[in-house]
Amino acid sequence: MEHRVIPVHLRESYNVLIGGGLLAKSGSLIRVALGDCRLAVVTDCNVAGLYLDGVLTSLREAGYDTCSFVFPAGEQSKRMDTLSNLLEFFAEERLTRTDCVLALGGGVTGDLAGFAAGCYLRGIRYVQLPTTLLAAVDSSIGGKTAIDLPQGKNLAGLFHQPSLVLCDIDCFHTLPAEELSNGAAEAIKTGILEGEPLFSLLETGNVREHIEPIVTQCVRYKANIVGQDETETGPRKLLNLGHTVGHAIEKCSGFSIPHGYAVAIGLAIIARAAESLGAVDEPIAARIESALVRNGLPITTKFSPEALANAALSDKKRTGGQITLVVPRAIGACYFLELPTAQLENFFRAGMEAGK
Ligand code: GLY
Repeated sequence: MEHRVIPVHLRESYNVLIGGGLLAKSGSLIRVALGDCRLAVVTDCNVAGLYLDGVLTSLREAGYDTCSFVFPAGEQSKRMDTLSNLLEFFAEERLTRTDCVLALGGGVTGDLAGFAAGCYLRGIRYVQLPTTLLAAVDSSIGGKTAIDLPQGKNLAGLFHQPSLVLCDIDCFHTLPAEELSNGAAEAIKTGILEGEPLFSLLETGNVREHIEPIVTQCVRYKANIVGQDETETGPRKLLNLGHTVGHAIEKCSGFSIPHGYAVAIGLAIIARAAESLGAVDEPIAARIESALVRNGLPITTKFSPEALANAALSDKKRTGGQITLVVPRAIGACYFLELPTAQLENFFRAGMEAGK
């Protein structure tokens, strides 16, 4: 089966391949992109049960010498001791500067393995093989890698771009509904930024019905933004749409609410706030809520505007007495709003009262 190729144009450019059956062909695809080297596959115990044997078989058939590191599934593994074990594993396996890490899994695996690849020997190559929709449409592209610290999520990390991303859409067809919804939130975020036809696909259908075009359009949008702004000093900040509230909700819930669900509530609150304050060119809130609900996502929260504002203002993205929010004025048109931090709680309140 053919696959799509979407380039990410950077000083060292790379391709994102999207199609069915890519994990089974990963060995030959990696050989074309990277040539000969040793490959260290990093994955969690859940994904290992589903895909590790198939990937190792494909790599060996393509003539690769491989090793693999399997860690316990879950966000609690995205921390210093797993990173340290992984770096020691690379050293014990005597990986060299020309070898390569394969991150097989969702966002936790990509962030952790990418960070380890970026630190080991001052940086070796890695390939992303996202197995969740969230990783495919967002975290596997753009080179953001990180681990969590006890003080907060993603506090230690670096920009380290992958050398190749293989999005095997067959993985997403079999995801549980909750995990698909988790990724749908980032796809809807991209639809609000990008506009049509992506937003309509999510508003009138759902991700399960249109996985391949949705993944393709999200990847194309993100590849373009990352190509303009690799290290998030300009337009890449648009990708934070819904994330100021989203991160605050994750924090207030003790990280029991999944990232995509928290971002979904953030998207709904920011859209309702913009609309109720008269800062939109067209009605958007009902359309955004409808796309979220259609994809199994929440649009309200039990946390107070005060609790969310306090959590948001202790977030690392705040600078001085202002906070930068990404706000939609229409589907396909978002802008940066510099808001005095003292007004944040009222801004959130406007979006939450409009949702009652
Ligand atoms: N997840 C947003 C970004 O990669 O910039």
